[in-house]
Amino acid sequence: MTSQPLYTQLKESEEVEEQVLWFTQHHVSARRYYRCALLIALLVTMLFCAMLFQLLIFPFLLVTPMAMPEVIPNQDNKCDDPCRWVLVESIPEGMIYNESITSNPSIYQAWLNLIRSANSSMDIASFYWTLTNEDTETSEPTASQGEEILQELLRLPQRGVVLRIVVNPPSSPGQKNDLQALTQSGALIRVVELPKLTGGVLHTKFLVVDGKHMFIGSANMDWRSLTQVKELGATVYNCSCLVKDLQKIFQAYWALGVPNASIPSPWPEEYSTSYNKDTPLAVTLNSTSSQIYLSSAPPALCAQGRTEDLQAILSIIDDARVFVYVAVMDYIPTMEFSHPKKYWPEIDDHLRKAAYERKVHIRLLISCWHHTEPFMFPFLRSLAAMRDNKTHYDIDVKLFIVPTTAAQARIPYARVNHNKYLVTDKVAYIGTSNWSGDYFVQTAGSALIVNQTGVATASDGQAMVQKQLQDVFERDWNSEYSREISSFSQNKCKAR
Ligand SMILES: *[C@@H]1O[C@H](CO)[C@@H](O)[C@H](O)[C@H]1NC(C)=O
Ligand SMILES: *[C@@H]1O[C@H](CO)[C@@H](O)[C@H](O)[C@H]1NC(C)=O
Ligand SMILES: *[C@@H]1O[C@H](CO)[C@@H](O)[C@H](O)[C@H]1NC(C)=O
Ligand SMILES: *[C@@H]1O[C@H](CO)[C@@H](O)[C@H](O)[C@H]1NC(C)=O
Ligand SMILES: *[C@@H]1O[C@H](CO)[C@@H](O)[C@H](O)[C@H]1NC(C)=O
Ligand SMILES: *[C@@H]1O[C@H](CO)[C@@H](O)[C@H](O)[C@H]1NC(C)=O
Ligand SMILES: *[C@@H]1O[C@H](CO)[C@@H](O)[C@H](O)[C@H]1NC(C)=O
Ligand SMILES: *[C@@H]1O[C@H](CO)[C@@H](O)[C@H](O)[C@H]1NC(C)=O
Repeated sequence: MTSQPLYTQLKESEEVEEQVLWFTQHHVSARRYYRCALLIALLVTMLFCAMLFQLLIFPFLLVTPMAMPEVIPNQDNKCDDPCRWVLVESIPEGMIYNESITSNPSIYQAWLNLIRSANSSMDIASFYWTLTNEDTETSEPTASQGEEILQELLRLPQRGVVLRIVVNPPSSPGQKNDLQALTQSGALIRVVELPKLTGGVLHTKFLVVDGKHMFIGSANMDWRSLTQVKELGATVYNCSCLVKDLQKIFQAYWALGVPNASIPSPWPEEYSTSYNKDTPLAVTLNSTSSQIYLSSAPPALCAQGRTEDLQAILSIIDDARVFVYVAVMDYIPTMEFSHPKKYWPEIDDHLRKAAYERKVHIRLLISCWHHTEPFMFPFLRSLAAMRDNKTHYDIDVKLFIVPTTAAQARIPYARVNHNKYLVTDKVAYIGTSNWSGDYFVQTAGSALIVNQTGVATASDGQAMVQKQLQDVFERDWNSEYSREISSFSQNKCKAR
């Protein structure tokens, strides 16, 4: 008889164990009962296996790799943290809006608050560091805010706060001063050789304090980002569930900041997340229920479950039913730094599709300064050309010019709208990337996405995140600083 090995084999299934238990408990001794029970057990096991296959394996056979990141089951993406949200901006010195118009706390104040509140740890992801006049070889009074931020950071290690910094390789001697001073103060700094690893740069900008507060946005660790460049970011306080997730992105940069690092594939389990565009984190922001997640670029730096930055943007555009407002510094549907030249129409296609298929109103607010690439114009003009009085395809493009005095014009790489955000009738997206192919394929960036769809009004009468960002966009769009692209007779932004 072969029943003995078969029996042990079957014993592995719990159902069978129960059958056997039942079998012995009732002292049924007859052999035919034994055979009968074995048969039943065999059938039950087969059924169980079939169910397992159906439940676990079969869906994977249907799902194409594109459909990843998959939903991780049994994950409770809820969080009871009393998260507070503050939209923050840098408005360049001397740039005045009409009174009674939207104004938000400054990034400078937000950073100061964050640094001063740090009790145990601070993590900073950064592109480059030039917080002082010395770094930029200038003598501008408006560098004092940046210099103060640096002084506050230098005090952190003495206070027992572990300060960790990841940064792209410095590209000029001036970009090394702050990092040297910080190292001497006791900060832990890792240079991430992203140019070698992905061919891009570490362009991400975020701050994490005590694992529960964060800032993310367009501002670099540069004094000009506080007083001479127009920037936008989000600060979230008392929100450890979200901030712990941002720290996973930081940890990935940190892991790549050692000599001869290589990008793991796949990333180890501890970098993976269950918060993504398909299963966002449910949280209250200022008492308003919201769904949020963080996206990351490039794909090689996305661990299991992380939504790629590009996929976040495309899904937000696709989801819009009324409007899509985009404010980015540069918009170029190409891989501008790649050779040979490569066209990259991903975002462009989705914008045109939204305008054509769903009659969504699309507005692009792009930055205009003397470093603006002339080859951006034909692409923008082509989008604007879809606008038509008969068919009502509505894509409108404006260029934003930060007003500049002769003295301000002498500050290098300043006086520009550096914002990188997207707001639709439903969702707010605050990111760190320019909108061209390289930023999504090779360069490291990240974004915070807030979805308050279905929430009629904020419960405590406060503005909703989406509405706040829409107000900022409309303020800029309707201001005298924005001009229709059709009013530019040449494909360039005049040196001012
Ligand atoms: C700061 O850290 C200390 C020691 O870890 C802790 O006892 C204290 O509660 C912390 N304070 C705040 C405000 O988090
Ligand atoms: C965060 O929580 C602490 C402790 O509950 C509170 O004192 C602080 O005001 C909160 N911060 C914000 C910005 O709401
Ligand atoms: C890094 O790689 C280079 C070249 O392969 C080698 O010479 C060097 O010793 C390595 N450094 C470390 C820290 O592993
Ligand atoms: C926003 O949330 C709604 C409701 O949960 C969902 O249907 C929609 O897909 C979300 N939009 C985006 C862009 O994630
Ligand atoms: C569309 O209509 C506006 C206002 O009626 C008019 O000024 C504009 O010239 C029209 N544009 C075209 C392309 O016909
Ligand atoms: C993109 O953004 C960076 C700073 O955020 C800027 O220096 C750069 O010139 C921008 N444009 C392009 C085309 O990369
Ligand atoms: C959320 O609360 C913070 C602090 O209480 C406040 O500064 C901020 O303006 C609020 N945000 C919104 C969107 O109302
Ligand atoms: C201020 O308002 C006037 C009238 O509405 C408008 O023409 C002007 O462009 C506005 N100025 C700014 C800076 O937005």
